[in-house]
Amino acid sequence: MTSEMPADLLAHALEAKGFMPEDEGAFLHRVARERLLHGPALEIGTYCGKSAIYMGAAAREVGGIVLTVDHHRGSEENQAGWEHHDSSLVDDEFGLMDTLLVFRKTIARAGLEDQVTAVIGKSTSVATWWHTPVSLLFIDGGHAEEHAQNDYSGFAHWVMPGGALVIHDVFERPEDGGQAPFHVWQRAVESGSFEPTETVGSMRVLTRSRGQAGELVG
Ligand SMILES: C[S@@+](CC[C@H](N)C(=O)[O-])C[C@H]1O[C@@H](n2cnc3c(N)ncnc32)[C@H](O)[C@@H]1O
Repeated sequence: MTSEMPADLLAHALEAKGFMPEDEGAFLHRVARERLLHGPALEIGTYCGKSAIYMGAAAREVGGIVLTVDHHRGSEENQAGWEHHDSSLVDDEFGLMDTLLVFRKTIARAGLEDQVTAVIGKSTSVATWWHTPVSLLFIDGGHAEEHAQNDYSGFAHWVMPGGALVIHDVFERPEDGGQAPFHVWQRAVESGSFEPTETVGSMRVLTRSRGQAGELVG
């Protein structure tokens, strides 16, 4: 079995709106293929489904489910006047970002509706009722310090022993990018519950090395 993205789904992933360079997406796909054999993958930060296609492709190949959480209102940097704003994603009735419909079409076109399940809501709300151990947690939600830390606090303890915590947009130097994901990575390392394993670009993988799923981490 090849570890490369299937060509049909790679085409969908490249075409999808989003923030996932191809090399990092291929890496995410490989990690998901390894981890989905052990339990569901959970993504925080769906946007239009680009990264969900990379993980959904893995689920199509090896089985398993990808759950992806987003309120679909965009992060700070997606709002009007900010660097990553896309005016075609504004809902005219509410004057707010709404990425849900584009996400839905993106996943349907890719044929991944059986593999990818959307959870629509604020990650802090979802975290209040979440009780499912995950084999892979991909944190790619709000990149402000508060949101990134909340996503770690809300979900990192649900990573199974041996499971992967994947953090996107980790930049050690402020001149390369926002620092919140790096701070979350540092927190995970300092907790003693996760060990850094692999990095591709700004994507870092840690493995749960201590504790059971559901047992709080630092
Ligand atoms: C960087 S984008 C995700 C990119 C996506 N993973 C991709 O590959 O294209 C961040 C997403 O997180 C969502 N988000 C930000 N803060 C959130 C929160 N507190 N709860 C739920 N979703 C949030 C935004 O709506 C946005 O769609």
